[in-house]
Amino acid sequence: MRSIINEKNLNNKKILLRLDLNVPLEKGKITDTTRIDKILPTLNFLIKENAKIIILSHVGRPKGKFVKELSLEPICKELQNKLGKKVKLITENIKEIKNKNFLNNYNDEILILENIRFYSEEEQNDNKFAKLLSNFGDIYVNEAFSCSHRAHTSIYKIPKFLPSFSGLQLDLEVNALNKITSEITRPITCIVGGSKISSKINVIKNLIPKFDNIIIVGGMANNFIKYFGNSVGKSIKEKNCDKIIEEIISLSKKEKCNMIYPEDVIVSKDLNGSPQKKELSEILSDEMILDIGPKTIEKIRKIIANSKTILWNGPAGYFENPNFAYGSIQIAKKIIENNKANKIFSVAGGGDTVSLLNNLNAVNKFNFVSTAGGAFLEYLEGKKLPGITALN
Ligand code: 3PG
Repeated sequence: MRSIINEKNLNNKKILLRLDLNVPLEKGKITDTTRIDKILPTLNFLIKENAKIIILSHVGRPKGKFVKELSLEPICKELQNKLGKKVKLITENIKEIKNKNFLNNYNDEILILENIRFYSEEEQNDNKFAKLLSNFGDIYVNEAFSCSHRAHTSIYKIPKFLPSFSGLQLDLEVNALNKITSEITRPITCIVGGSKISSKINVIKNLIPKFDNIIIVGGMANNFIKYFGNSVGKSIKEKNCDKIIEEIISLSKKEKCNMIYPEDVIVSKDLNGSPQKKELSEILSDEMILDIGPKTIEKIRKIIANSKTILWNGPAGYFENPNFAYGSIQIAKKIIENNKANKIFSVAGGGDTVSLLNNLNAVNKFNFVSTAGGAFLEYLEGKKLPGITALN
């Protein structure tokens, strides 16, 4: 893997820069800018070297369709403010741009192509689309470690057509995670939460042989709660998960990995409703699970206290509403307390987890915080990430 930082002669070179600008948005406003802040050194380096920057990124999961709320426009404005340089959003359909030199019309600006996932070809890892995109640049840079587990066109295929390099933040994350995974001490506890159930449930199985405790919270726990015969009402859940859950349970027994699921929960009728503590058997059909309950918090605190390493991806509840942030905050507090006492090594990762830690002013109280969620878990799994493989 060659880092762009070591490259000379970038003067006037067109850099196709893949970023992960998938930041949390609420009514068009960015609620956490960490992923933007972390890539500024690479942008500033390229600006200093007088390179011409063309940014590719996605936000959300528009599934190959134009979705107004998932435009990169607010992110483009934020970048412009942070860089003090014009950033122009290219909204034209890039597949209809006939003139290959179209982007040359813009001279001083940094260019950013509209949400790359508005094109179905992005997730299809499409050869023709990769070729079209690679025509816009001389060099490709992957500065999106948090997307590198996706074998998508702008991550995996473009490097086949252009000299390709890693960005500074990607280097930093890969080096840090390499070091952490090679020096890790037991007992190791991995906490997996958040709302992206489908991406994470298959990863769990592969984590079992590596860790002593796996704590399932957040959206994914709902599938387990349901599997054990309880109603989860209107809670988010994934379809057809029983088989994988059975495999997870049986493998965890074989590998002697302690699996922990919520024992009690906090529910509400909707995301803005008032919180109510419930046993698992008491959840009504019009309620949704939005946080873990006090018994579960206590159990998790004890497991953290008996661990040497904590790896955490995904909040325990709908922390965006303070009514349902208590479980996540208690987990964070216990990790911070033990970290301060030098009893554990702590690593957290993922957009929502970072946003939660930022709200608590706690990012610097962990040993390492990765911008990546799914990619972080797959890296822990020991998997070769497509985006990194492509750079090698
Ligand atoms: C992330 O937030 O983990 C990355 O942006 C990848 O997003 P995805 O899970 O929608 O592929």
